[in-house]
Amino acid sequence: MSSLLVINSSASGAASVSKQLIDETVARLRGQNPALTVVERDLGTSPVPHLDADSTAAIRGAEPANPAQAAAKQLSDTLVAELKAADVIVIGAPMYNFGIPSTLKAWFDHVLRAGVTFKYGEAGPEGLLTGKRAIVVESRGGLYSSGPAQPMDSQEPHLRTLLRFIGIADITFVRAEKLGFGPEARQQAINDAQAELAKVA
Ligand SMILES: Cc1cc2nc3c(=O)[nH]c(=O)nc-3n(C[C@H](O)[C@H](O)[C@H](O)COP(=O)(O)O)c2cc1C
Repeated sequence: MSSLLVINSSASGAASVSKQLIDETVARLRGQNPALTVVERDLGTSPVPHLDADSTAAIRGAEPANPAQAAAKQLSDTLVAELKAADVIVIGAPMYNFGIPSTLKAWFDHVLRAGVTFKYGEAGPEGLLTGKRAIVVESRGGLYSSGPAQPMDSQEPHLRTLLRFIGIADITFVRAEKLGFGPEARQQAINDAQAELAKVA
């Protein structure tokens, strides 16, 4: 691993569990490899805008017809370049209303680009960002990896689909679950996620 892209998407700032877990992991990796390149995007504090008519046109490949389209294309190009340059992508993904934060969805909307990060061929869609690994830290108030709420998880399947669609098939999910089940369960979830991260990263 030589180059890391870190995407945080919690809106909770310093109180975020996913960001805390990721910060600890990045600090450890930096300690192990001082030459590691780390690019960080905090979508909670600096969100990528949601798509509109100009950015949709720009991202879908039209020649920019106005300054707004040019700016949108430039932002998308920058985000794609950050993704291409990384060999490992670390994503902090809180569960918001059973799915991913809208800020993280907006980031994906800017990097899933036909002809750039995926293409359609005779065999259907093909991801173009192969050879990369993703580590996704999922923080959740409830329990979704087992039990009755499992079918309500629109977070992990969505993230797996998005990443695989652009060719990133090596994905490790680390879950901090039951964060809303009281202080003991919360601390246990954080300890378990820390131990898991120490193993996988
Ligand atoms: C807007 C919002 C929606 C949430 N929706 C859910 C949910 O659907 N299911 C769940 O288990 N937890 C939900 N939670 C709880 C968060 O997943 C939990 O607080 C988690 O710690 C958030 O990650 P973070 O600490 O990294 O910000 C929600 C929290 C917020 C702020």
